[in-house]
Amino acid sequence: MGIKITDKVTWVGKIDWELRTFHGEEYSTHRGTSYNSYIIRDGKTVLIDTVWEPFAEEFVENLKKEIDLNEIDYIISNHAEVDHSGALPLLMKEIPHVPIYCTSNGAKILKAHYHEDWNFVEVKSGDELEIGKNNKLIFIEAKMLHWPDSMFTYMTGESILFSNDAFGQHYASERLFNDLVDQCELYQEAIKYYANILTPFSPLVINKIKEILSFNLPVNMIATSHGIIWRDNPTQIVEKYLEWANDYQENQITILYETMWDATRKMAEAIAEGIRAADKDITVKVYNVGRSDKNDVITELFKSKAILVGCSTVNKSIMSSTASILAMIRGIGFKKKKAAAFGSYGWSGESVPMITEKLKEAKLEVVDEGLKIQWQPDEEELEKCREFGRQFVSKL
Ligand code: FEO
Repeated sequence: MGIKITDKVTWVGKIDWELRTFHGEEYSTHRGTSYNSYIIRDGKTVLIDTVWEPFAEEFVENLKKEIDLNEIDYIISNHAEVDHSGALPLLMKEIPHVPIYCTSNGAKILKAHYHEDWNFVEVKSGDELEIGKNNKLIFIEAKMLHWPDSMFTYMTGESILFSNDAFGQHYASERLFNDLVDQCELYQEAIKYYANILTPFSPLVINKIKEILSFNLPVNMIATSHGIIWRDNPTQIVEKYLEWANDYQENQITILYETMWDATRKMAEAIAEGIRAADKDITVKVYNVGRSDKNDVITELFKSKAILVGCSTVNKSIMSSTASILAMIRGIGFKKKKAAAFGSYGWSGESVPMITEKLKEAKLEVVDEGLKIQWQPDEEELEKCREFGRQFVSKL
């Protein structure tokens, strides 16, 4: 059933408690997620976004309990990705003529997904839709935040920004509002979402936020499409986004490694000792990427000013989890992070130059040619690793 968030606006989404991966297997959702959809009841009745297709039937049934579907005057599709549009095919069977307001890219993507020619009304930034005596909707295109069609909808009167994915979190909670949930959980999910999904678009995030701030619109709530609604000091997340989008760094170095018989692990731990000896204020975190959640690792890299990647050599190459995380790092496009490689080997020793090359391809600033140790490190070689860590700190 719906939950009223103001006199005129009701949440009619779906909390997905059991989701453990999103975007196929690309994004871990340890705390589930929600697909937020909203009904506005004013002079006109408006539905903003829907839910993911597996919940379409449940969504439409619940919507019928909330409202006579024939009372819906307008549907707003802020974003065509299936987690928000997935219930449209079922819903549109019931109300096929209701106009769907979306961007021009939104109409193209919805048509390409569902192969239906619904009654699309294409909107641009600044277009308005009257919905009642004191309320209108203003559309704000948010291209590439994070798809070409993404759009925000601002409701005057209630001063609610329906921001879709932006400012969201994969975080299932029946509490619905930011002031009612555990703040550590909330911010962990918000930064993970930013690090993994929005980092590639950081320059656009800054420009879009500046554009919205220039309108000087009051914002009482930011109603996202995933996770909680920001109502207590709602612009706190906007300020965080500005901070995160500006090549965010904490005083942290993250060491990633992957190991066959522990030699590279021993190197990683000795390097961490060296870093700590050189600067006890730096937070050092060490992850075996073969055993760690890749999105949690990306979140730690996002917070880091420098990263070290170590791997054994296998078949003249690197191990598969290291190859995978290096591909993710390249795709995400981190800026202004320093890096170096290390690793143990038996006879050929390709891993260190190969990792170094991949770090450079990912546009990280490689500050050291890397450290190779043959077979298992002895005490003298572990001291070399500590020295490598100390030297790495001096190059930051
Ligand atoms: Fe939550 Fe881009 O979909």
